[in-house]
Amino acid sequence: MGTLWYRAMGAPDDSGDPRRDAPATGRNREPILAVLRRVLPDPALVLEVASGTGQHGAFFASELRHLAWQPSEPDPEAFASIEGWAAHARSAGARVHPPLLLDARTHPWPIERCDAVFNANMVHIAPWEVCLGLLDGAARVLPSGAPLVLYGPYRIDGAHTAESNAAFDASLRGRDPSWGIRDLEAVTTRAGERGLHLEERIAMPANNQMLVFRRES
Ligand SMILES: C[S@@+](CC[C@H](N)C(=O)[O-])C[C@H]1O[C@@H](n2cnc3c(N)ncnc32)[C@H](O)[C@@H]1O
Repeated sequence: MGTLWYRAMGAPDDSGDPRRDAPATGRNREPILAVLRRVLPDPALVLEVASGTGQHGAFFASELRHLAWQPSEPDPEAFASIEGWAAHARSAGARVHPPLLLDARTHPWPIERCDAVFNANMVHIAPWEVCLGLLDGAARVLPSGAPLVLYGPYRIDGAHTAESNAAFDASLRGRDPSWGIRDLEAVTTRAGERGLHLEERIAMPANNQMLVFRRES
């Protein structure tokens, strides 16, 4: 990534803590949790695609004890942080598995089945093919009726939902022309082609959205 979206935990000389902190997760985790609490199955094995620092999954699994959380990342350098957060959550009784090496574009994914797929803040910070790979993979691993839950900014009815999103989109495309805030309709159409039906869209703080798709039979 061009600009780091995370920072090291603790003091710069604290080399003993491998965990990274993404400040955005501190702001968005409670609103996301409220939606996950409602839409995820009970019990459920949840595959998280693009776990990043790993702190989202550790938090959600700690708060929702009926979940087993499976983090994943394509970047092996992120594993120590994900495992650091997972170990922390495990010591308090949460069920968080060691991370899987998973690039959304590469199939088959290294997991055959799960009860839900969660992905935050990746679709706009990756090429469109990664979004398609996410939809392909989710359609393969989810059984009928299971949810794919996406969090992030989207354009709706062909327009940004806020000026700040338009500026963010321009900065993303400036960093990498293959990145950018996606049109909700494009994602929904491509999901539908794969048997993933948009059940619900929830407007979230800071001009983000949560999209809840269900795998059709
Ligand atoms: C802005 S970070 C978001 C991380 C985390 N989900 C969060 O909300 O804090 C974007 C993440 O997308 C991941 N990513 C980029 N390309 C990917 C791909 N092809 N497959 C899976 N993950 C990818 C990056 O490695 C990074 O962890």
